Amino acid sequence: MMKIDTIVDLRLAVAGWRAAGERVALVPTMGNLHAGHLQLVERARTHADRVVVSVFVNPMQFTDASGGGGDFERYPRSFDEDNTRLSAMASAPDAVFSPTVAEVYPGGFESETRVSVPDISDILCGEYRPGHFVGVATVVAKLFNMVQPDVALFGEKDFQQLQVIRRFVTDLCFPVEIIGVPTVREKNGLAMSSRNQYLSASERENAAVLYQMLLTAQQKIVSGEEAFSDIQTQAIARLSDAGFRPEYFEIRQSENLQPASATDSQIVILVAAWLGKARLIDNLTVNLSIN
Ligand code: PAJ
Repeated sequence: MMKIDTIVDLRLAVAGWRAAGERVALVPTMGNLHAGHLQLVERARTHADRVVVSVFVNPMQFTDASGGGGDFERYPRSFDEDNTRLSAMASAPDAVFSPTVAEVYPGGFESETRVSVPDISDILCGEYRPGHFVGVATVVAKLFNMVQPDVALFGEKDFQQLQVIRRFVTDLCFPVEIIGVPTVREKNGLAMSSRNQYLSASERENAAVLYQMLLTAQQKIVSGEEAFSDIQTQAIARLSDAGFRPEYFEIRQSENLQPASATDSQIVILVAAWLGKARLIDNLTVNLSIN
């Protein structure tokens, strides 16, 4: 496994693979890797001859990155452990790309060109984290241009992020196939996340309620309940009772994330809620066309 931190070295490695006619996959991450990330790497192996994992905590997607002391500063970084975990994998990546902020944003991230996907970036998480998806789309577009992968893999856990990425890839004609990978969960159902380490042991147990609320809502929709707003209101109330500070619990159309009704067939239930110091997000899809 090569460890690369400059764009020049990265391009050299990728050019060698391309010259040999090999297919290249990219798995973008912000590090602090867990089983969810590793599943993306394993899947990547089945789609390409060469796999690059990027590890970069992207300041542009943290709304408080220039202020200091906030989420960007305290985001968990564990580069040595990440490298050890990756190189120990049976399907270890060919290269780990961990550039510095100056390498990715030589002009400073506040003043460089950015990628903005309208509408879908401003709702749900975008409403609570203004500018977040511009930061995500911009860094992913930059990584695509640095690596020039044939295929890139993203977790369905960040469902809105996946749809934002799919949209800019289509709109800007990036020749990259985007693959969504199902959410990896703890035994109690809690979606794995780097931010789970902000939870105490008892909060971690309690956090399973988030997934249970999604399952309950999914069950109601599948069994024909049509009053989606009631399902949403009840879930918010139950989350508050269970000690969460919910931001939203919404039933939406999968593709554009606009409000769904019982006549829609591809539905996703999305939730964001604070528990103690952690902001947790999760989602569950409902496919009504096969019921
Ligand atoms: P990060 O939170 O590190 O996640 C990297 C990738 O792992 C994302 O595609 C995310 O959806 C996926 N992932 C995280 N938890 C998962 C889980 N429990 N199951 C399956 N996949 C999971 O998402 C980002 O980084 C950044 O926004 C990034 C796309 C790298 C841009 O900076």
